[in-house]
Amino acid sequence: ARHLLGIEPLRQADITALLDRADHYAEANRRGEAARDVLAGLTQINMFFEASTRTQSSFELAGQRLGADVMNMAMQASSLKKGETLIDTALTLNAMRPDLLVVRHPNSGAVDLLAQKVQCAVLNAGDGRHEHPTQALLDALTIRRAKGRLHRLSIAICGDIAHSRVARSNILLLGKMENRIRLIGPRTLIPSGADRWGVEIFDDMAEGLQGADVVMMLRLQKERMDGGFIPSEREYYHRWGLDAAKLAHAKPDAIVMHPGPMNRGVEIDGTLADDINRSVIQTQVEMGVAVRMAAMDLLAQNLRAERAAQPA
Ligand code: CP
Repeated sequence: ARHLLGIEPLRQADITALLDRADHYAEANRRGEAARDVLAGLTQINMFFEASTRTQSSFELAGQRLGADVMNMAMQASSLKKGETLIDTALTLNAMRPDLLVVRHPNSGAVDLLAQKVQCAVLNAGDGRHEHPTQALLDALTIRRAKGRLHRLSIAICGDIAHSRVARSNILLLGKMENRIRLIGPRTLIPSGADRWGVEIFDDMAEGLQGADVVMMLRLQKERMDGGFIPSEREYYHRWGLDAAKLAHAKPDAIVMHPGPMNRGVEIDGTLADDINRSVIQTQVEMGVAVRMAAMDLLAQNLRAERAAQPA
């Protein structure tokens, strides 16, 4: 494929190949080895129309470690402020002949639209509530390394599912890899139609967490809530916030995950989030660099092959 826009079109074999490549980079990163020839001569532009700490910095590091020329567009200072459309911005950047375009946008579908207008490879760094494919892949790599496999696991995804692109990409990926998925949260934050996704749905944490191998917590994404019922943070923490007592319903070796940014004392107890015996939150961040290296490596291989096949 030319682009990485979502998990939806990926097959099991594509996911496994990408994770194997990412595993290789994770080990190389731990040894402090770079591979600056992999993207040498290629230009990567990061366009973030929405705030990011982890995704933007890890895409930047990933590109640098593989030898790309990396540019971060300062979107706040761009001509979007003067009324330029997303597509005109994309066409302008496309004329500068980038090879890899990494895009985050608040609107679902905006990155797919942009990808249809440019000649380079586009990587979706999160679009609205639609998809966040590299997050699901880094979560998958973290799970595979912690559990030794990525199939036949019982995985609980808890909290604000309705507004979460992370949940959507994870449900797609973990479902393709034949895991048992449970969604736990207030009924108002579970999307209508979720019962057709091949998942089990619970509103009670104790019930939903029974025997889980993996517990994935999500933030209340208030920026995407438009006036629907939101419980108070205090009530939310009481019923759906993960603490040691609720985690005791999961398997004794269950791992705790969170994509970040995290609101301590709202969806997760701060002490539990920092407990290195249970929480793999920092490993998720580490795997984010490796997964983004792998994704750009594989797309660059496809891009080079596509260009080589074109008549001069
Ligand atoms: N998990 C995630 O996408 O984090 P950022 O918003 O900080 O990139």
